[in-house]
Amino acid sequence: MKNEEIKKIKSEIQEVSLENERDLQAFKNTYLGKKGKISILLSSMKEFSQEERKEFGEKINALREEAIKILSRAQTDIEKRKMEEKLKKETIDITLPGVTFKRGGIHPITKIIEEIEELFISMGYDVVEGPEVEEDLYNFEKLNLPKGHPARDSQDSFYIEDEKMLLRTQTSPVQAREMDKNQEKTPIRIICPGKTYRRDDDDATHSHQFTQIEGLVVGEGISVAHLKGTLEEIVRRLFGEERTIRFRPSYFPFTEPSLEVDVSCFKCGGSGCSLCKGTGYIEILGSGIVHPNVLRGCGYDPEKYTGFAFGIGPERIAMLKYGITDIRKFYTNDLRFLESFQRQEGQNESQ
Ligand code: DAH
Repeated sequence: MKNEEIKKIKSEIQEVSLENERDLQAFKNTYLGKKGKISILLSSMKEFSQEERKEFGEKINALREEAIKILSRAQTDIEKRKMEEKLKKETIDITLPGVTFKRGGIHPITKIIEEIEELFISMGYDVVEGPEVEEDLYNFEKLNLPKGHPARDSQDSFYIEDEKMLLRTQTSPVQAREMDKNQEKTPIRIICPGKTYRRDDDDATHSHQFTQIEGLVVGEGISVAHLKGTLEEIVRRLFGEERTIRFRPSYFPFTEPSLEVDVSCFKCGGSGCSLCKGTGYIEILGSGIVHPNVLRGCGYDPEKYTGFAFGIGPERIAMLKYGITDIRKFYTNDLRFLESFQRQEGQNESQ
């Protein structure tokens, strides 16, 4: 009787299929729980005789052990299967295209300014800044442009307060500010990049806002030779070793003599093309020897000190370098235009 029951339970537990947590729980309840079949068998042992207890006790215990083994094996199998499914679900398909993040880039004008800054820093210059809202005194007066001077006409500005404060029309006022500050104490060797403003009607070659880089060197015995040597070096490093430069006499109120600087055309090499309008040269900056009136007005003795100055237009350099024909493109935030500079990383762009 007992033997049969044990056999029956044994075959039952061997055949049962345990597929999930619920099956495991049901198995536990049916066979091993307090009211489970094996537990009932075990507790019924107290009614057995000594011999019966010996005979069946072992068998029931073995049965219990087997049930526990079946249960724990099924439990491991279920957990393993679960883990495999999870891993399968979480596999990363490395062939899928990644998410691309939009990245900003350096504006072409900033790039040109930084490139020029680095060149001058390598030659021992300091980079300084001046205010964009400037006094008439520095923007004009101290630069030898008194009120009523005809050269003021070409630099009409946005006035802030009567005729005293204005948006600077050039970076040249920083020359006067630096000399005022320094008062003959040490030689000056600076460049000043920054924004400038003029009351112009915007078109392909004019923008009411643009940038300039001012340069100023003041010391004893500074001459045109220093100016020439410095600018030749800068132009070669900016536009290529084989470039030559040409000076043309010009007029700026704050320099005497004044010189405009042309560079041999980097498209045709000087033989004449559409970029240089057949002349073989391209005008790139204004410069000159600091006017004695400017030195004197800023506390320098022009008999003792001399200097040279220059003004570079980064927009013009960028337009020439990259073949851009409309200055407004720098200021209208057209991403197609701006992104083209990220892609080509400073190579020539034909528009
Ligand atoms: N400030 C001048 C302009 O805006 C450019 C310039 C010319 C600057 C000659 C200079 C210079 O320092 O020496 O047209």
